[in-house]
Amino acid sequence: MRTIRSHRKIRLGILGSGSGSNFQALLDAIAADTLNAEVALVLSDVPNAKILDRAGHAGIRAEVIDCRGFANKFPDEAQAETARALQEAEVDLVCLAGFMRLIKAPLLAAFPERVINIHPSLLPAFPGLEAWKQALDAGVTEAGCTVHYVDAGMDTGPHIIQAKVPVLEGDDYPSLHARIQVEEHRIYPLAVQMVADNFSCQTALCSTK
Ligand code: GAR
Repeated sequence: MRTIRSHRKIRLGILGSGSGSNFQALLDAIAADTLNAEVALVLSDVPNAKILDRAGHAGIRAEVIDCRGFANKFPDEAQAETARALQEAEVDLVCLAGFMRLIKAPLLAAFPERVINIHPSLLPAFPGLEAWKQALDAGVTEAGCTVHYVDAGMDTGPHIIQAKVPVLEGDDYPSLHARIQVEEHRIYPLAVQMVADNFSCQTALCSTK
């Protein structure tokens, strides 16, 4: 099947709270030219998150989101500021990469159908935190990961791509999460390119109307 590639690189805004290995996978795919994109801005709600260091090493603008002292909540003012920063950076697509706060309007309204997330389970199974622990505790034989569009629910938006990972005899939480992350790093760049190709198709259709 022929892939229609956008002529313009899609501009990504990344939101993460932790290590940023999925962000790194996107950077690696861009460097390998398998993802036609550029990262315009990295934002984190955790001031000492490793994702910010990764951005710094890559020479990418990185900023901390001020969540007004809330441990888990993403207050509306902070979401509005985040939306403004992403818009000012001319971001086309917002990629959540281990971002641990729930996104709502006004961020979703500013980027309708343009926020995606990677989640470490075969959704709709095991939404929420530490899904690999939920999978192991439930005794399933198959785990995995999902890239999906973000809506106002908790990990409920339409799926873009999934990958399955077997649960092996003797797996513990870290071993299962590590195996899921290998698949995350493979499918997140694929999903971003699929969404980018879809944007360029829509643009092409608009321009022929
Ligand atoms: C990843 O496993 C990602 O799927 C998960 O957090 C980890 C972040 O790792 N995200 C969620 O659980 C979102 N609900 P990373 O910082 O190394 O990319």
